[in-house]
Amino acid sequence: MTSSATQGIAVAITGGAGGLGKAIANAFLEAGSNVAICDVNEGRLADTEKEWEQNSDRILVSKTDITDEAAVDEFIGSVVAKFGRLDLVVNNAGIIDNFDPIGTTTKASWDKVLGINLTGTFLTTKSAVNAMQNQFSPGGTIINIGSVASYRGVNGGLAYTVSKHGIVGMTRNTAGYYGDQGINCIALLLGGMDDTNLSDNFHAGINQEAIGRLHAVNPGYVAGKTGVALADVAKYCVFLADKGIAASSNGGLITFNKNWPCA
Ligand SMILES: NC(=O)c1ccc[n+]([C@@H]2O[C@H](COP(=O)([O-])OP(=O)(O)OC[C@H]3O[C@@H](n4cnc5c(N)ncnc54)[C@H](O)[C@@H]3O)[C@@H](O)[C@H]2O)c1
Repeated sequence: MTSSATQGIAVAITGGAGGLGKAIANAFLEAGSNVAICDVNEGRLADTEKEWEQNSDRILVSKTDITDEAAVDEFIGSVVAKFGRLDLVVNNAGIIDNFDPIGTTTKASWDKVLGINLTGTFLTTKSAVNAMQNQFSPGGTIINIGSVASYRGVNGGLAYTVSKHGIVGMTRNTAGYYGDQGINCIALLLGGMDDTNLSDNFHAGINQEAIGRLHAVNPGYVAGKTGVALADVAKYCVFLADKGIAASSNGGLITFNKNWPCA
């Protein structure tokens, strides 16, 4: 479905080669937008580029690590160079930890999770805000992908929980400073989703004691039943492309969790 809000706009999505990011990218492509994705997974990037080859004039696929400031600036610059402007960014790239609490979180894990989930989002948003301020007809929309772990304590390990709480602060601060310039920032605090690659990071082993605690305080998660559909989150992002809706939602922390765990 295309609309004047999405037709021809330039959208950049981090972590867009798989999972939720790809679902969001596909929804914007269907809605007539120009879509740029970045990711670090070379296999998924190549598959996605092939899948989209008939839309080559409307896509940009980039191997960009969002923890690398120069690479992020280059990615955002290449979006503006190809599509003439930047209208909407989805800060989607993220990794989960292995549910370790503070006593067993390694500094390496802390640095990695905070580096991607928080510093990567900071770098992308910084670059995007500067592009959006300086373009003809300034303005834009930034959607940050948060989580139940943005407001609850044991729906992830320490590092993931802190990173997703940090997304709330970044959303509120950005909304507060830039809303009156037409740059609106909104977070979607998502419940569990099936059919993504988030558990790739579990190769280091999950902290089973922490999982037991998660289950003790949350009603059971049933794969395929409790999970939020990727396509619905993607449609919500497309909905937020409407500038009026984005302005009215500025600073919003929108829970999108199929009532799991019960609010
Ligand atoms: N899956 C869930 O249950 C769930 C629930 C709530 C929130 N989320 C959030 O949704 C977002 C998307 O996760 P997903 O579940 O689709 O997982 P996913 O692993 O399928 O997607 C994340 C993507 O980010 C990419 N990525 C990782 N590090 C990167 C980096 N340094 N630079 C660029 N790209 C990088 C990965 O390669 C991957 O393609 C994340 O922010 C995650 O925290 C997921």
